[in-house]
Amino acid sequence: MNEFEDGNRKLWDELTEVHIHSYGVDKFLAGQTTLDEIQLREIGDLKGKTLLHLQCHFGLDTLSLAREGAIVTGVDFSEKAIDNARKLSDETGIRARFIESNIYDLKDHLSEKFDIVYTTMGVLCWLKDIPEWARIICHFLKPGGILYLMESHPIINIFDDTKPGPLDITIDYFHKDEPIMWDDHHPDYSDPTHLQENPSYEWRWTISDILNSLISAGMTIEFFNEYDKVFSKFFPDMEQDQDGWWVLPNLRGKLPLMFSLRARKI
Ligand SMILES: C[S@@+](CC[C@H](N)C(=O)[O-])C[C@H]1O[C@@H](n2cnc3c(N)ncnc32)[C@H](O)[C@@H]1O
Repeated sequence: MNEFEDGNRKLWDELTEVHIHSYGVDKFLAGQTTLDEIQLREIGDLKGKTLLHLQCHFGLDTLSLAREGAIVTGVDFSEKAIDNARKLSDETGIRARFIESNIYDLKDHLSEKFDIVYTTMGVLCWLKDIPEWARIICHFLKPGGILYLMESHPIINIFDDTKPGPLDITIDYFHKDEPIMWDDHHPDYSDPTHLQENPSYEWRWTISDILNSLISAGMTIEFFNEYDKVFSKFFPDMEQDQDGWWVLPNLRGKLPLMFSLRARKI
């Protein structure tokens, strides 16, 4: 783990303690799924499928996937996240395995192959090496197995996300080896009353970086979809639609905010 990843791990230990109270655990315990209708439609059949969830946080989506019939393994490098995921599995009686590991070290902890690798919503900016990420996904898939990825669209990362009004381009779209460091005590996306104490280190990856990495690793892209709505409030002017997605009312149909893709190991 390099110094930037170690910094991010501290941040995610901090945020896990916040998200335990802000992510709607009570609704999940009452039986509600945390998976949205787009994912459930796009992933395909989950019943009896072995599924590896990369960057699972404290396991709400992992356990929701298990409720859909998948046999799940969740991976995250935050000790606090994995501890809480295991507690939720025990509390609900939903069977799941959780592994504390940096995804770049996962081969040291896991030797199986899976039908599905699943990773969604706020995952790619924490990763230092997307070509290697794609090779790791391919390694853990059985031949014919699929990756399902849903993520914020990289184009939205170029805009200043602090001020209301027209969007200003303040950040480069293209990847650089050195991460961008944020230490501005940004309000948390899930609980804006919490101001981040630890800095974050983020890498930018373009759409072509993501697609070319998967293709080079030996995957076929089965679909790639773009949406003008997203899962978190990225900009002050965003509003929630009737299904809970965040939209920019003035830019509906004009700017992609999220994408999803399914890729199959050849
Ligand atoms: C936004 S969260 C995950 C998204 C998830 N859909 C959610 O909101 O519950 C990002 C997660 O990635 C994890 N993470 C970041 N970098 C990682 C790495 N290199 N290896 C493993 N986990 C990592 C963090 O600990 C955090 O739990």
